[in-house]
Amino acid sequence: MPLARSLSVTSLSGLEEWDEEFDLEDAVLFEIAWEVANKVGGIYTVIQTKARLTAEEWGENYFLVGPYVESNVRTQVELIEPTNPVLKRTIDKMNASGCKVYFGRWLIEGSPYVVLIDVAFTAWSLDTWKSELWELCDIGVPWFDREANDAVLFGFLTAWLLGEYAAQSEEPPHIVAHFHEWLAGLGLVLCRHRQLPVATIFTTHATLLGRYLCAGNVDFYNKLADFNVDKEAGDRQIYHRYCLERSAAHCAHVFTTVSQITAIEAEFLLMRKPDIITPNGLNVKKFSAVHEFQNLHAQSKHRIQEFVRGHFYGHLDFNLDKCLFLFIAGRYEFSNKGADIFLEALARLNYLLRVNNSDVTVIAFFIMPARTNNFNVETLKGQAVRKQLWDTAQTVKERFGKKLYESLLVGQLPDVQKMMDKDDFTIMKRAIFATQRQCQPPVCTHNMLEDSSDPILNCVRRIGLFNSSADRVKIIFHPEFLSSTSPLLPMDYEEFVRGCHLGVFPSYYEPWGYTPAECTVMGIPSISTNLSGFGCFMEEHIADPSAYGIYILDRRYRGVDESCNQLTSFLFQFCKQSRRQRIIQRNRTERLSELLDWRYLGRYYISARHMALAKAFPDTYMYELHEPTATSGFHYPRPASVPPSPALSRHSSPHHSEAEDNDEEERYDEDLEAEKDRKNIRQPYALPLKNKTSP
Ligand code: UDP
Ligand code: G6P
Ligand code: GLC
Repeated sequence: MPLARSLSVTSLSGLEEWDEEFDLEDAVLFEIAWEVANKVGGIYTVIQTKARLTAEEWGENYFLVGPYVESNVRTQVELIEPTNPVLKRTIDKMNASGCKVYFGRWLIEGSPYVVLIDVAFTAWSLDTWKSELWELCDIGVPWFDREANDAVLFGFLTAWLLGEYAAQSEEPPHIVAHFHEWLAGLGLVLCRHRQLPVATIFTTHATLLGRYLCAGNVDFYNKLADFNVDKEAGDRQIYHRYCLERSAAHCAHVFTTVSQITAIEAEFLLMRKPDIITPNGLNVKKFSAVHEFQNLHAQSKHRIQEFVRGHFYGHLDFNLDKCLFLFIAGRYEFSNKGADIFLEALARLNYLLRVNNSDVTVIAFFIMPARTNNFNVETLKGQAVRKQLWDTAQTVKERFGKKLYESLLVGQLPDVQKMMDKDDFTIMKRAIFATQRQCQPPVCTHNMLEDSSDPILNCVRRIGLFNSSADRVKIIFHPEFLSSTSPLLPMDYEEFVRGCHLGVFPSYYEPWGYTPAECTVMGIPSISTNLSGFGCFMEEHIADPSAYGIYILDRRYRGVDESCNQLTSFLFQFCKQSRRQRIIQRNRTERLSELLDWRYLGRYYISARHMALAKAFPDTYMYELHEPTATSGFHYPRPASVPPSPALSRHSSPHHSEAEDNDEEERYDEDLEAEKDRKNIRQPYALPLKNKTSP
């Protein structure tokens, strides 16, 4: 019996609900990616956050397919028997033929089903499958490229899974298979070659060549049309990977990318223009108390401050209350992610803050995983010293309290001179002596394996930002992703972001860039660029992004030095803001989160699936292309009130003080402003989805 499913996509800023009632018949959706239950980078975030909405729409007929990685499965997946009888037969058959395929529920929001394939278990087939690949499309995969070998195994196994599913189905099934990125792309090519009843979608989250070319010294965007792609791929020894990627893009019924800028890149480097752009969303948490995210900022900031107290022990000659936490995070691609110009801008900012006698101290965190040999002793010692000082203070406090209590019990006011004895002073002196240190607070928290050639450390050496007392800008390089179980900075990434003041992501190559998007939904301002998918998306939808704390650096029309000056100016202006201005700005930033919610952005994925179904099964499904097809729609106007520049900032009471910065009256003003903004926003368009069998 055909299944009628409906999906309600919530309205944006009070606009009408977008309701689509459509009939998916008996269609099943497989979404295939190497990052399913396997954290590597931003693609994991796409899959993991989108799962809830997709599971709501497809229910029991939605399956994510990824690699089996034991350590991940142990912590994230509940293995169960397949509930769908066709899939159960499929998996049983594969397992009886020498594969190891697992089924379970991924323990994330939406609890989607996952099919996990142990590629190593089928490594005995690698040579046969590589020969088949060569016979089929002349792609030769060298033995030493481990990732590409995994891609071959994963590709053949996913195509086997889909083919077997079709064979086990009693009625001819309608399968949609959505493949992400080149590592999963071969499965798609094989589905088409084997003429399986599968509507295929390929989403590329970056192009291989784009990433490689940008990381080199190439004027990428001005030369896009001129690259000899085969030669460039060959020169970089990625020709086979490039062929896998390009063939998947060309074989797909529907080809998508995550942003307009990557669409242009794909057109020139993969020679196919994407059919639709599928921007990345997030699951936006709305708190019952509107300003809860501000409280979370304060709580997380205190935890970062604790870490800083330990890290800078013996050199805490700056005011922590006037300290701003900036950070950059993500895969360690030094110039693609813009860590190079961030460091340069920090050096210039340091100079500006010093010559202007600013009382602000900036601590810039670099969270980018590199090869290390664990935490270094000096960093761990810092936290131990801080803990010891805390314990000493607690001991003295308790002894003091006890004496005070006893004196009050006998009805006497205490003699303050006698409240602390010699012992108390001895332990306090000892604790203070322990804070003496001969060296500067370390720049890097870990022992780096490639210390002498590490690009961040080498740049720090060149610009001389060594955390000395005179520096107003300090650097902390944490070459590992954050974790709440870390002995050093026990916070997960989300908590850390909430506690910071500004995320800085001046990327040169960034198809989307989740990190600034995550900042936005947490109400933390960020800097991105007009070469990142996120930056362009925000520029397109917001009249005055910087008024909302979305600073977009121009890396498209300016030289590196000019961009660096602009970045320095953003940073310096940010340092000049008062606390009250920062609070207002955070409120505005957070207001944009609806724009990035999957409840809104999920519609582009839905559209891609319908387009693919209509192309693969034209007798059953129909898709009408309406304008506009890209990510256009609504628009955020300039904020209703004046921008939060230091000169224009107004006080809400005549006796304003820093402590009153967060008062209710202020919030009320801001809420009114938000309401005005909502009324000004244009209506998003409804998606043109139709089904031939629906009335
Ligand atoms: N991230 C993380 N832990 C960290 C730092 C970053 O989980 O300590 C995540 C972050 O939440 C984001 C992803 O890494 O979702 C990076 O994605 P992005 O799209 O910005 O860049 P990519 O690495 O995919 O190029
Ligand atoms: C939040 C909290 C306030 C706190 C402020 C600090 O708004 O609700 O209580 O004063 O953060 O802001 P800052 O930008 O100085 O970290
Ligand atoms: C890639 C891109 C990144 C994007 C992510 C998710 O890893 O480098 O910019 O955010 O995929 O689409």
